[in-house]
Amino acid sequence: MKHTQIGSLQLDSAGRLRHFLTVEGLNAGLLNRIMDTAESFCSVTEQTVKKVPLLRGKTVVNLFFENSTRTRTTFELAAKRLSADVLNINIATSATAKGESLLDTIRNIEAMQVDMFVVRHAHSGAAHFIAQHVAPHVSVINAGDGRHAHPTQAMLDLFTIRRSGRELPALKVAIVGDILHSRVARSEIHALRLLGVRDIRAIAPRTLLPMHAEDLGVSLWTDLDAGIEGVDVVVMLRLQRERMSGAFIPSEREYFARFGLTARRLALARPDAIVMHPGPINRGVEIDSEVADGLQSVILKQVHYGIPIRMAIMSLAMRSGTDFDPGAERRA
Ligand code: CP
Repeated sequence: MKHTQIGSLQLDSAGRLRHFLTVEGLNAGLLNRIMDTAESFCSVTEQTVKKVPLLRGKTVVNLFFENSTRTRTTFELAAKRLSADVLNINIATSATAKGESLLDTIRNIEAMQVDMFVVRHAHSGAAHFIAQHVAPHVSVINAGDGRHAHPTQAMLDLFTIRRSGRELPALKVAIVGDILHSRVARSEIHALRLLGVRDIRAIAPRTLLPMHAEDLGVSLWTDLDAGIEGVDVVVMLRLQRERMSGAFIPSEREYFARFGLTARRLALARPDAIVMHPGPINRGVEIDSEVADGLQSVILKQVHYGIPIRMAIMSLAMRSGTDFDPGAERRA
């Protein structure tokens, strides 16, 4: 699908978010609006009663065809903190296992008068496909499709960087590991570039860099020691074996020796550099425990900020077509 088509599907006629499928086709103003809205939700997660009534009466359906810990649970918590009703479909015990098509599953659940689908699927384009077929009042949020996109992860990563007090455009960012199979890397690169970051370094063995990766607007590095020098942010990625067919690395031991983030290597970055990882982490494969649990790691902060960011995206998407201002509604 072309960017213009995705853009017209994601945004309503006034340019407001209707579906959130990919960062491509969006604009810096909208990304900043999502983060500003998330700021207003950070305090909700610190209240004794962690709820606001913004989506009372709405129904959110979590439809995860692929495994997830962080994304599924933070979407569920985000929806509940907005007072929506949440339905978690267990794909393993659903009629999908009896051969029901994706579209039939969607149509049947839609007949229960739901308002939002949060979709994770192994196939790139699955969330777009669903968005093309739902009723006009229903929103679709992409919670990760194949190796294509994971836009809410990109947004929570940007929000984590912003909350760490760093100014985005001037940052040097290293993205390290299995970039070839990473939907997180793709979404993150688009989001960083939209917000003006120009020094983005993709660091990986040649076998794990996409063909024409430089077209994404990044510099390519196959030596971690050289690539990490002086960066402000290090984003580590897992080897995504579930999307690999064939041998991309000689062994995990050799991979860790060349591309694992250790304290020695991290010392080559700026002294105040932060370490990020979308999870799940594989200790001793792409990251050493000393770094994953160290003072520069913001890995658990990323999980924490997943809730206000997803609250922001859900509330904005479900209220498109109105002059909705979550901050004003909360203040009233
Ligand atoms: N970051 C991420 O997508 O993690 P999960 O697979 O646990 O949702």
